[in-house]
Order: sequence, then C-alpha cells, then structure tokens
Amino acid sequence: MNDTNSNVLLISGHPDLQRSIANSEILNLLATTSQIKIHKLDEACQGFQIDVPAEQALLTQADTIIFQFPLYWSTYPALMKLWFDEVFTYNFAFGPNGDKLKGKKVILSITCGATENSYQPGEFNFLPIEQYLQAAMHPVKAAQMDIVDTVITFEMNSTPDEGGDQNTVMQLAQQHVERLTHLLN
Ligand SMILES: Cc1cc2nc3c(=O)[nH]c(=O)nc-3n(C[C@H](O)[C@H](O)[C@H](O)COP(=O)(O)O)c2cc1C
Repeated sequence: MNDTNSNVLLISGHPDLQRSIANSEILNLLATTSQIKIHKLDEACQGFQIDVPAEQALLTQADTIIFQFPLYWSTYPALMKLWFDEVFTYNFAFGPNGDKLKGKKVILSITCGATENSYQPGEFNFLPIEQYLQAAMHPVKAAQMDIVDTVITFEMNSTPDEGGDQNTVMQLAQQHVERLTHLLN
C-alpha cells in the first residue's frame, strides 16, 4: 500500500479491552511498532455515548481506516454496530452530499474464536465467513470506501474451559500484526 502509517486510523470495536487477550495484544503491538492512530471505542464511547461530530472528524482526517474487532455472532460487537448506526449518517457517508468517506481505503482486521473449518455448510457456523461479513460491510460500501484487504485470524480462544490457550493467542496476535503491517508497508 506504500503508506507511511501516519494517516492510518484504527477503530477498535472491542467492547471491553480490559478483558481482551487477542485484541489488546494486537493493539499493544501496533502501538509500539507503528505510527497508526488507535481509537478505542470502549474508551471513547463509554455508556454507549457517541460524540458523532468528533468521530466523523477523525474519519475524515484518515486516508486508511482499519476496522479491528472480535467476531461476535459472525459480525462486529454491538458497540461497533451502534457506532456505524450513529456515525455513518445521511450526507456524511451516503446521500447526495454523503461523499466524505468516498475513496478511503479500508482494511478489516478480525479475530475469531472458531476454526476456519467451522465456516462452511454442515459445520457449526454453517456459512462461509465472507457471506456473514457482507452485511457488516454494508455501511462501508454505501460510503463508497475501498475495502482493500481483510486480515482474519481464527482460533483466538484464550478461555481454558473452552479448550483455549492464552500463549497460543498471543503468538497468533503477533502473526496477525505482522500480516497487517505487511499490508501497510
Ligand atoms: C458474544 C460472543 C460471540 C462470539 N461469536 C463468535 C462467532 O460467531 N465466531 C467466532 O469465530 N468467534 C466468536 N466469539 C469468540 C470471539 O471472537 C473471540 O473470543 C475473540 O475474537 C477473542 O478476542 P479477545 O481476546 O480480544 O476478546 C464470540 C465471543 C463472544 C464473547
């Protein structure tokens, strides 16, 4: 992408990074190794209160926007859904004068607990993940943004009771960041 990273904005949709392993590690690694501006919705939108003009201003200043989120029921968490509902408004993101985000590059950066294999007919998640993400990306496409890539890491389950392992998730987070960074350089 040949970016200097200086105009890259990451929107974190995790609802509570204090209780996160995968997303918090990804954000920590990016904060120490890149110039990406990191905007955490769980901090900025506490109590589900969203400062819409401030969020819109952040977006307009960026050239590339990374949407970073854990997959919850095969879409983004409720906080990020509300954020899209409130921030992607008429005549900002769509409508006759709604071109404020047009042409901006978008990267989806997603952590999943499930296996890749589970996202196919006959398996637990029964559809390819790309199909689930169509609805999630509706506002982005309506805003005529340019989704240039998607980085997904499966099996980021750190809960031992569910067969997970924190060390594995930390290693996967490192690899996830390497893939993201590679895209930006
Ligand atoms: C409410 C909820 C729903 C989830 N739904 C899915 C799902 O549909 N597919 C999947 O692969 N993982 C699912 N997971 C697992 C999360 O994606 C996983 O725990 C998360 O990506 C790990 O990131 P974190 O450590 O930053 O929280 C779900 C987790 C929660 C809490």
